[in-house]
Amino acid sequence: MSKLLVLAIGVLAIGACSGGAKPAPATAHGGEVGSGGPATGAASQSDGQRLFEAKGCNTCHTIDGSPRVGPTLKAVWGTTVKLEGGGEAVVDEAYVRESILQPNAKIVAGFPPIQPSFEGQLSETELAALVAYVKSL
Ligand code: HEC
Repeated sequence: MSKLLVLAIGVLAIGACSGGAKPAPATAHGGEVGSGGPATGAASQSDGQRLFEAKGCNTCHTIDGSPRVGPTLKAVWGTTVKLEGGGEAVVDEAYVRESILQPNAKIVAGFPPIQPSFEGQLSETELAALVAYVKSL
């Protein structure tokens, strides 16, 4: 019994020693303190998700497939939508940008033209982030 214990302690001690010999943890305290995330200006999907709520898009649009006041934006990217008054449009970057900045330029059939324009309320980065987010849905 006590022999076993000694053995176990021995193994632990060896483990601890070899672990402690490595200098790796010494740099840990340096850290990435206060880095405010990527400062590249690149539009990210997660920013888009945040903006979708912050700008109130989610009060009219769901992302789960069910229509609200406006059409759901789930899996809308790349589809062809019917427009009020005939005609159709492919949901691509240009269309989504236009839908945000000039919502009345193309009205989705069956929905009221009540979306406010977000012209002047979004930076180019924010707009790109929203487009990336819609694309990801
Ligand atoms: C007051 C309600 C309302 C708000 C807020 C709103 N929308 Fe809309 N949106 C609509 C309605 C209604 C339509 C459909 C009629 C039309 O085409 O204008 C629409 C259409 C769209 C379309 C085209 C969808 C399709 O199926 O072709 C996109 C994309 C879109 N909105 C994105 C956004 C984004 C992004 C925001 C936030 C920046 C936003 N909307 C805010 C009501 C709203």
